[in-house]
Amino acid sequence: MSGLAPTAPDGGRTVLVGVTGGIAVYKAVELVRGLVKDGFQPLVVSTPAAQRFVMPLTFAAVSQAPVLDDESAWQASGGWFKHIEAARTASVLVVAPATANTLAKMAAGIADNLLTAICLAFRGPVIVAPAMNWAMYEHPATVANLCTLAQRGVEVLPTEEGELACGEEGSGRMVSPAAIRLAVRRAFAAGAAGPLTGKKVVVTSGGTRERIDAVRFIGNRSSGKMGRAVADEAYLRGARVALVTTQPADDTPYEVVGVESADEMAAAVREQLKDADVLVMAAAVADFKPRADEPGKIRRGDRETLTVDLVRTVDILAQTARPGLFRVGFAAEAGPQLRRARAKKAAKGVDLLVFNDILAEGVGIGADENAITILTAHDEIEVPRTSKSACAVAIADQIEEGLRGR
Ligand SMILES: Cc1cc2nc3c(=O)[nH]c(=O)nc-3n(C[C@H](O)[C@H](O)[C@H](O)COP(=O)(O)O)c2cc1C
Repeated sequence: MSGLAPTAPDGGRTVLVGVTGGIAVYKAVELVRGLVKDGFQPLVVSTPAAQRFVMPLTFAAVSQAPVLDDESAWQASGGWFKHIEAARTASVLVVAPATANTLAKMAAGIADNLLTAICLAFRGPVIVAPAMNWAMYEHPATVANLCTLAQRGVEVLPTEEGELACGEEGSGRMVSPAAIRLAVRRAFAAGAAGPLTGKKVVVTSGGTRERIDAVRFIGNRSSGKMGRAVADEAYLRGARVALVTTQPADDTPYEVVGVESADEMAAAVREQLKDADVLVMAAAVADFKPRADEPGKIRRGDRETLTVDLVRTVDILAQTARPGLFRVGFAAEAGPQLRRARAKKAAKGVDLLVFNDILAEGVGIGADENAITILTAHDEIEVPRTSKSACAVAIADQIEEGLRGR
């Protein structure tokens, strides 16, 4: 059987982003962009004051959705209730920047604009990122309001110390958009309830580097983006993720083990598999490595050629078969070699095999997009060219499907 994966499902990935009237609202534009990159669908709700700083058009463009504001809420065609209802379907509400004024209203339960009304109507996790002058932030009224919100289960992100927009130094600067994105992902993971929730998932990513001498190596162009996307997706579904990678991986809410060579990756995977339920081998592991690893630097001298003797590297995937472990392999082939991928799936005995054609235009190694075919026990599911995060959603769906069938 074969078929197309369902097109980019919403999958409950809507995040409400409340923006209020502080200078830091310009950083919310970057936040919304980042949330889109993370695979979320941000829905921006703006206060009238926020619109004096950044026009709704900017947020509409970066979120790829209309902005909800008081103006549109009072229009007969849209309507207040419809707006609140739309907003209630979101999974997480984040208010960033959160002004002293809006925080006070949230603490008091005032609902005099669309955002504050939504804050009362919303039942999911709420995150606030305060942003204001240090004196406003340290005022007992603000301190008490933040305390009230925290006691009610709102996640109050700390502010940063430093230069403030008003020119003064002190606390009250909004945390970075990256930190807010992490908090949103944590909130999603905490609310997850599916087959991957609580499972330990080990993901490998990036191309390995095999040392020739102290400064040179044989490597490949793998960026690690596909593996990173799978790790991110598994995390959002509540998995305990360990990413074993050759690439830098900042801003991850899960464990990252940095490695360089195939041997190091094999050792790290062995260690991580002790309590793992799922292994996803998305790394581009070198097939060969130099026989000798010269301790110093090979000198050019007067030689015209240099021969580096290569030997096979360890087959990490082949070494990991054990009962109970759900294994996912990747096959990057030059050309539409589905037949070879099927043979690899059988030879490695993996539960899923993700095939991609490295010669296809604009996708695969190093790119932000991919086009894959997922070979499962019974199906071949095609995911046409799309973002790597959307591919990761399809892969995670199939892993969950496989775990369900166990
Ligand atoms: C130039 C300017 C900058 C402001 N910056 C902030 C700020 O960073 N934090 C804050 O709490 N209020 C700030 N305010 C005050 C808010 O805009 C004001 O309290 C407003 O009523 C907030 O409305 P809102 O919470 O509905 O968005 C600023 C006001 C102006 C005119």
